[in-house]
Amino acid sequence: MKIGVPKETAAGESRVALVPDVVRSLKKKNEKVDVLIESGAGEAAGHPDSHYTDAGAEIAPVDQIWNADVVLKVGAPSAEEIGRLGSSQVYVSHLNPWVDADTNKALAASGVTSFAMEAIPRTTRAQAMDALSSQAAASGYAAMLIAARESGRFFGMMTTAAGTVPPAKVLVLGAGVAGLQADATAKRLGAIVTGFDIRRAAWEQIASLGGRPLELDFIPDAEGEGGYARPLTDEENAQVVEALGENAKKQDIIVTTAAIPGRAAPRLLTAEAVRNMQPGSVIVDLAAETGGNVELTVAGETVVENGVKVIGPRNLPSLMPVPASQLYAKNLENLLGLMITEEGTVNVNLEDDILAAALITQSGEIKNERAAGRDAA
Ligand SMILES: NC(=O)c1ccc[n+]([C@@H]2O[C@H](COP(=O)([O-])OP(=O)(O)OC[C@H]3O[C@@H](n4cnc5c(N)ncnc54)[C@H](O)[C@@H]3O)[C@@H](O)[C@H]2O)c1
Repeated sequence: MKIGVPKETAAGESRVALVPDVVRSLKKKNEKVDVLIESGAGEAAGHPDSHYTDAGAEIAPVDQIWNADVVLKVGAPSAEEIGRLGSSQVYVSHLNPWVDADTNKALAASGVTSFAMEAIPRTTRAQAMDALSSQAAASGYAAMLIAARESGRFFGMMTTAAGTVPPAKVLVLGAGVAGLQADATAKRLGAIVTGFDIRRAAWEQIASLGGRPLELDFIPDAEGEGGYARPLTDEENAQVVEALGENAKKQDIIVTTAAIPGRAAPRLLTAEAVRNMQPGSVIVDLAAETGGNVELTVAGETVVENGVKVIGPRNLPSLMPVPASQLYAKNLENLLGLMITEEGTVNVNLEDDILAAALITQSGEIKNERAAGRDAA
């Protein structure tokens, strides 16, 4: 069987779906697997073509890659790319299936069997395939480095002959995978870190990384179904927003990562709260692409208000292409392990709960209920 890896086409995308180590590992597990890579696909992630050929892959023309039994990408396919796919093939990448109805429909029309990395269930067995988590870790790390760079501050205390510079004060809102990685990164750089989440289980995790949990205990625990946060009531939200506005005045840097699955990002910092911060402070809003945790955020831009920078980066994992590609490729390798048979053929067994959950289209239909609901909307 053949696995095809095209070069990513979205502007600013520097990741690649498979890295040479994973090619080596796939071939070691099953010598009947051939991997075809588009020339230059891994370049921005630190892997020239020669690394892939050394690992046993073949550099192949684009047409052959899109004809492979299984095609793997990072970003969602363009309409033109979907046009290259057919019913005998399996396609896997991020698909944005809960939002992008056009892509769902086009994939169904092509007949391809498609899987969305966003739809991998958050179960213990699926953890090794969970690209949302692996890429969120890269995002949290990247966001904190952007904040450090843009702030122009030392994060750790610096004692010199000319005097002592105090450590930076950092607040991280949201303590899921990205938020906890942001906490850990700021801590490693030496900052005084405060973390906040509306799920109380996260307070202990913030503390375990050396951060101080901001314990707003007048809000009842907001842990909902499956360990995810439930949306706050309007009254609870108003209390949180007020408390965070007060706390923000004390901080030099804020990184926001709060999200509720399938909803617009909760609004946590008002324009007034931003104006009340010290000039020179920096906010990085990881939720920029889903509406922003900060009222002033504009996705893809930096807004300066009263000397406070509000940065709304897009596609943060792409700023860390080396580890983000390495982890994503490992996620894919583990997922492929559920589909590749010993004989070197593809078997999509929908009795497997992970494959069943991640399947978006097959045989001309949108099979995933939530994605289909999106289409009906
Ligand atoms: N495979 C697994 O078992 C698995 C994998 C990843 C995450 N998880 C769990 O899923 C949960 C969410 O993790 P995630 O990284 O996907 O999070 P996420 O990206 O969905 O959300 C980020 C964080 O924002 C928080 N949040 C939501 N509204 C908020 C508000 N108003 N104020 C402050 N914080 C707010 C959430 O509680 C969450 O911690 C965690 O319990 C995590 O341990 C499980």
